[in-house]
Amino acid sequence: MKRKLQGLCVVVTGASSGIGRETALLLAGKGAKLVIAARREDPLEEVARLCRERGGECKPVPTDVSNLAEIDTLVREAIAAFGRIDVWINNAGIYVMGTVEQTPLDVFERAMKVNFLAAVAATKAVLPHFRQRNAGLFVNISSALGKVTAPYLAAYSATKHALKAFSEALRDEVRDVGVDVSVVYPTSTDTPLFEHTANYTGKEVKPSEPIYPVRDVAQAIVDCIESPKRDVVIGVTKGFSAFHTLAPSLFDRVMSSKMEKKHFKPKPQGATDGNVWTPMSRGAGSSGGWPASNPARKLAVAALALVAIPLVIGALRA
Ligand SMILES: NC(=O)c1ccc[n+]([C@@H]2O[C@H](COP(=O)([O-])OP(=O)(O)OC[C@H]3O[C@@H](n4cnc5c(N)ncnc54)[C@H](OP(=O)(O)O)[C@@H]3O)[C@@H](O)[C@H]2O)c1
Repeated sequence: MKRKLQGLCVVVTGASSGIGRETALLLAGKGAKLVIAARREDPLEEVARLCRERGGECKPVPTDVSNLAEIDTLVREAIAAFGRIDVWINNAGIYVMGTVEQTPLDVFERAMKVNFLAAVAATKAVLPHFRQRNAGLFVNISSALGKVTAPYLAAYSATKHALKAFSEALRDEVRDVGVDVSVVYPTSTDTPLFEHTANYTGKEVKPSEPIYPVRDVAQAIVDCIESPKRDVVIGVTKGFSAFHTLAPSLFDRVMSSKMEKKHFKPKPQGATDGNVWTPMSRGAGSSGGWPASNPARKLAVAALALVAIPLVIGALRA
């Protein structure tokens, strides 16, 4: 049976821009009660205003999820506002690009805190409430890079693999008490993430194609709340995983070449910490202004990844 979104109390972290913002807006349009969190207060207020205009109730709670004590406050504020929490979306995240040697150790640590430990802390704080009610859903936003990995992405990818592993173990622990755990694996999505990126590569970053519209990812999250799924694997992520499982060495070579050719602009850029330590004023919309790849191109890439690559590998192995 589909979960009703009308009146559902949903907490969304990282809702001041991108996927979190768009998800909050879609849920508000369906009459959900939202508690939204991120560091930037003005964008958060703006999202809250738009949510109310769409018919949802919304409480913004400025929160830095790397400060784990602030997560307890967020849980308390959510329960005080609406009496309960039905769904908790761990979406706040930072993107880090740099080789292992280029990326500062404290940035590895910070990425682990924001992208992974914050979700652990939120789970520990919310789970007693879910257990008491024998109901609740965690939606954890991982990434295609939580299934495979690539050069320059050790820090980011490690956090997203950690979130996947954590979610899978948690799911086994809470299955019998009516609590669901879903993991979402988006691939390149048109959001401000790439403006916010901490970049130590010396080259300007852009999302690699195909790029998915932020609305598609937000809609997939909303669909998952209505009918929880174990995994929500978006677009070419499916092909990446299959390719990686079938031919890991070939996958590594293809991914390295794709990174060099597709993930950078031909422009040098000095090292930047992006929004790792402090939020950036720019990039407060849902979209990042990147041209979403057309459906035919996405279909072609997905078909190539799902069908042609395993066939080629099979032929090479024969
Ligand atoms: N865009 C993609 O291609 C893509 C692909 C796969 C997975 N994802 C994942 O999707 C999630 C959302 O990213 P996005 O693409 O929507 O990028 P985004 O626009 O940069 O959104 C990231 C959100 O996280 C918040 N955030 C960052 N650090 C925080 C902190 N310390 N405390 C609280 N909030 C914090 C940001 O708000 P403040 O700066 O205001 O705090 C912002 O609201 C991330 O987990 C990302 O890893 C994105």
